[in-house]
Amino acid sequence: MKIFITKRIPQKGIDLLTAAGHEVEVHSSPEPLSETALIQACQRADFVLNGGMQKFDSHFFASCPNLRALSLMSVGYDNVDLSAATQYKVPVSNTPGVLSGATADLAFLLILAVSRKAFFHHKRILQGDWKGFDPTAHLGVELNNKTLGIYGLGRIGLELARKARAAYNMEIIYHNRGRNHEAERVLGARYVNFDDLLTQSDVLSIHAALTAETANRFNQDAFRRMKNTAILINTARGGLVHEKDLADALYSGLLWGAGLDVTNPEPMKSDNPLLQLENVCILPHIGSATVETRDNMALMAASNLLAAIKGQQMPQIINPEVYI
Ligand code: DGY
Repeated sequence: MKIFITKRIPQKGIDLLTAAGHEVEVHSSPEPLSETALIQACQRADFVLNGGMQKFDSHFFASCPNLRALSLMSVGYDNVDLSAATQYKVPVSNTPGVLSGATADLAFLLILAVSRKAFFHHKRILQGDWKGFDPTAHLGVELNNKTLGIYGLGRIGLELARKARAAYNMEIIYHNRGRNHEAERVLGARYVNFDDLLTQSDVLSIHAALTAETANRFNQDAFRRMKNTAILINTARGGLVHEKDLADALYSGLLWGAGLDVTNPEPMKSDNPLLQLENVCILPHIGSATVETRDNMALMAASNLLAAIKGQQMPQIINPEVYI
């Protein structure tokens, strides 16, 4: 079978596919494919593995009628029009679970980095502005016994909650569509409504999927409800946060700080005003970027495709209704 991979992925994933006798074409340039180039490449293939953030909309599925399955090397799938995929009978899979630890680690890193203004202090050294020890300048805040609010307590949120509880005895509150009984039982996590999540969190970490319902959920109204000592963390998708409102809230002191691994749009421009702020730490969407996790994601994405090639249900299918 002919498989097209939209971005260079860890070799282990490619080896799994070639060892099974399939022909693999990889788009290895760091530049994303244009919409037309993506369609042309996918028209030459039977199966596609998406290693990047390419968009697959209804025009894509209509243009690739022979496509037999799409395997995403990501847990998020807001870049895919799932109803169009189902309409065109294309099963789509993702890579849940394997990146939870690494992404939670990154959220934890951002919480610490923001709380101690780490990126700002690092920049001071680079700019020759380390004049000496100063007992009062640019102080951070501590996390012990503070309240961690989690918006979207699934696998990643649970990993973060565990770390925050173990390291700083943080109290865990969360808001979800459904209750997370494991988090309540193991960590004493408390389910709260969205307003209480905003008003009670010292650190509020976003782990929900980007949907029509969650887009821009963190906007001026939300920031007005939050403590002015609060830290906002986003390692999910940039679209959940209204970025201009966030910048205004930070500049005006409505919020104390923010840590972002995802922005809207991506990549963020280097002159974005958020990058100038002392209490803001921003990373370029590297939540899952460890050797171990990316290997596991590539293997899981390749295994999903192999199942589809054999005519089986993809183990991590997102649109199971496609098989009905
Ligand atoms: C995901 O898997 O959705 C991440 O955001 C990409 O690593």
